[in-house]
Amino acid sequence: MKYYEVKQADDPNNKTVLEQKHIPVITAPDKVKKGEFFDITIKMGEIDHPVEPGHFIQYVDLYAEYYHLGRANFTPEMKPEVTFKIKLEESCTLRAYELCNLHGQWEGNKKITVE
Ligand SMILES: [Fe+2]
Repeated sequence: MKYYEVKQADDPNNKTVLEQKHIPVITAPDKVKKGEFFDITIKMGEIDHPVEPGHFIQYVDLYAEYYHLGRANFTPEMKPEVTFKIKLEESCTLRAYELCNLHGQWEGNKKITVE
């Protein structure tokens, strides 16, 4: 493993438990209208990540490609899940980057079509 690595699933069709707990899951429409707000929900992860003082998700950042859209910060008292209302100007890959205080940075992504 490289030191500066943002982790993704080694095999997306056969994720490990660690990957299932950490990779952000993006729920959003596959297709949206240009410039119109819609909901995007980001959840960590496919199975619930621990929420304890010694082990929790610190934040999740949302990007359109590599353009920063927003951030949600979490504490050990918060379920690491957030819904943003966003609008897009062109089709892109939405990327969510989360930081676990023990297990580092993880990326989840979803392609979205804007018409
Ligand atoms: Fe973790």
